[in-house]
Amino acid sequence: MPRRVAFFGATGGCANACLAYTLQGGHSAIALVRRPEVLREQLRKREIADEVVESQLCIVEGDVKDITSVAEVIANGGNGVDTIISGIGGPPTPQSSLLRPLTTTDPGICHKATCNILAALKDSKDAASTLLVIISANGVLNDSPRDYPLALLPLYAWLLRGVFDDKRAMETALMKTKPTGGYVVVRPSVLDSGPSKGMHSVREGTMEQPVQGYGIGRDDVGLWIYSRVVETEDRSALYNQGFQIRY
Ligand SMILES: NC(=O)c1ccc[n+]([C@@H]2O[C@H](COP(=O)([O-])OP(=O)(O)OC[C@H]3O[C@@H](n4cnc5c(N)ncnc54)[C@H](OP(=O)(O)O)[C@@H]3O)[C@@H](O)[C@H]2O)c1
Repeated sequence: MPRRVAFFGATGGCANACLAYTLQGGHSAIALVRRPEVLREQLRKREIADEVVESQLCIVEGDVKDITSVAEVIANGGNGVDTIISGIGGPPTPQSSLLRPLTTTDPGICHKATCNILAALKDSKDAASTLLVIISANGVLNDSPRDYPLALLPLYAWLLRGVFDDKRAMETALMKTKPTGGYVVVRPSVLDSGPSKGMHSVREGTMEQPVQGYGIGRDDVGLWIYSRVVETEDRSALYNQGFQIRY
């Protein structure tokens, strides 16, 4: 069954890979991006033909902080969507704090984006049948077993603390609202931009049964979301679950 997938953050590595797999799989998509030409060029580099982009993808230019644009994407010209994938984020940047040495270039962007998506989704006619996927990170949850190797404790417990504040706020907003069509939280470990190693290389854990690892490629995060969420017909086992993924 072809899916209709809305993407936020489609010029970012993970969501971009997932979008490419989604188009290659014959599904239709709509993406909100600040720079449409960048997205078109990225898809060309991934050898997605222009005709495929024209026929299967609707690109909406806009900012995820603008709820009207977010609602437009979720409404999808009246056709609605059955899946929303958000890979919104921002690069880390130093700040003058000993306890939180890093923040992001747009602090709070993940939280703001997710709140807008949740609000627009709530008002959408397809709310009950739309699965929301957000990309968070491992090490974000305070009250669950450690899901990263002990050697990375300084990275997670100190260096990334300020970056994780936003992810934590995003996850809290999600848990508070609980979209009626269900959600999936993807918590990858440290990301790299290497070539895909394939699904057989990706290990998957949950909050209760974490798997530890040092990293995963953005391409394989996109592949995991595509294989486990977009392509899977019966998604009931995924509803309201969080998954850590790593090599
Ligand atoms: N780096 C790591 O090791 C690591 C580990 C675990 C999880 N994560 C998280 O995983 C997620 C995906 O990471 P990634 O590296 O694939 O993506 P990324 O390169 O951080 O890309 C972020 C995306 O968000 C978009 N974006 C940001 N602000 C926006 C706004 N106001 N309006 C519209 N779009 C906006 C960016 O668009 P533009 O192209 O217009 O900027 C880009 O498409 C992020 O949340 C990241 O923090 C990262």
